[in-house]
Amino acid sequence: MTPQLQISTGSAPGKVILLGEHAVVYGEPAIAVPLNSLRATATLTATGHTSEKLVVDAPGIAVHTRLDELAKGHPLAAAIIETMRALNISAAPAGTLRVASALPVAAGLGSSASITIAIARALAAHIATELTDTSAAQIASAVEHLHHGSSSGIDPTVIAHNAAICYSKYKDLQFIRPHASLELVVADSGATGSTREAVNAVRLLHSNDPARYTGIFAEIGALVVSARAPLDAGKHAVLGALLNANHELLQAIGVSTAFLDTLCAAALRAGAYGAKLTGAGTGGCMIALVDAACARNVQQALLAAGAKSASITPLMPTRYE
Ligand code: PMV
Repeated sequence: MTPQLQISTGSAPGKVILLGEHAVVYGEPAIAVPLNSLRATATLTATGHTSEKLVVDAPGIAVHTRLDELAKGHPLAAAIIETMRALNISAAPAGTLRVASALPVAAGLGSSASITIAIARALAAHIATELTDTSAAQIASAVEHLHHGSSSGIDPTVIAHNAAICYSKYKDLQFIRPHASLELVVADSGATGSTREAVNAVRLLHSNDPARYTGIFAEIGALVVSARAPLDAGKHAVLGALLNANHELLQAIGVSTAFLDTLCAAALRAGAYGAKLTGAGTGGCMIALVDAACARNVQQALLAAGAKSASITPLMPTRYE
């Protein structure tokens, strides 16, 4: 009898860090929201032919290779192997795992955690096992650790839970509800930025002058704490000023670029309440805090200033079904 094809899928959103990146690696709090307009998906078509191998098919990054021929450190191989370890799957299923993502790579929007979690969910569905959000975040954290050395775990957490969070490495996770009137324009500078390199560069600065950089991280942490009330209440101007101050502190630790600064300035001139880079920086994306009245203006201004893309998204995510 010919075995039946069995199709299992998983998906996950991207994410935006509103405030607190980099300092979060050193134990300070940070605020992040999911980005459901850009998602990663994984589709496993299992053939049931035990003699066959698993083929990983990711056309977006030109991968069409058997799992056992992918380098172990390849992000897709790492995601599959770590999931198999966590779920006690002893042999990769025979068939094809197709991975697709609308998220730009190395742009600060959480592409790697999103892809890992989509893969973990597809493999869990294949063995009919429920994967909790916490377990999904743990799998993505383990993979991130392989690639980024010291990572805070904020990306896997916000992406797995698909909820706005205030995150700290050493404290309980807090779910938050940003006011519905708060919107973001998320713009891609078009340059990639390596999270690993940015985190390592900051680590070097910190180890050469711990007092100065611990002070900067504490200032960033204080901005995050101050943001909680205006975020709840929808106080655009107060929150915007905190974003601007956070951007200046990110400049001070060397992770902005001239073009990210130009985009932030263009957004502010067009009426944004605040603007900053988001994620690891050294390229990648920036965010501008807006409301419905100025969102389009700011979006147009960012595109006119040379952003590769600029999209408007509510800060409080509508739940993805
Ligand atoms: O590069 P991204 O967007 O995935 O963001 C990383 C955020 C950092 O704070 C720089 C690193 C981390 O692990 O928290």
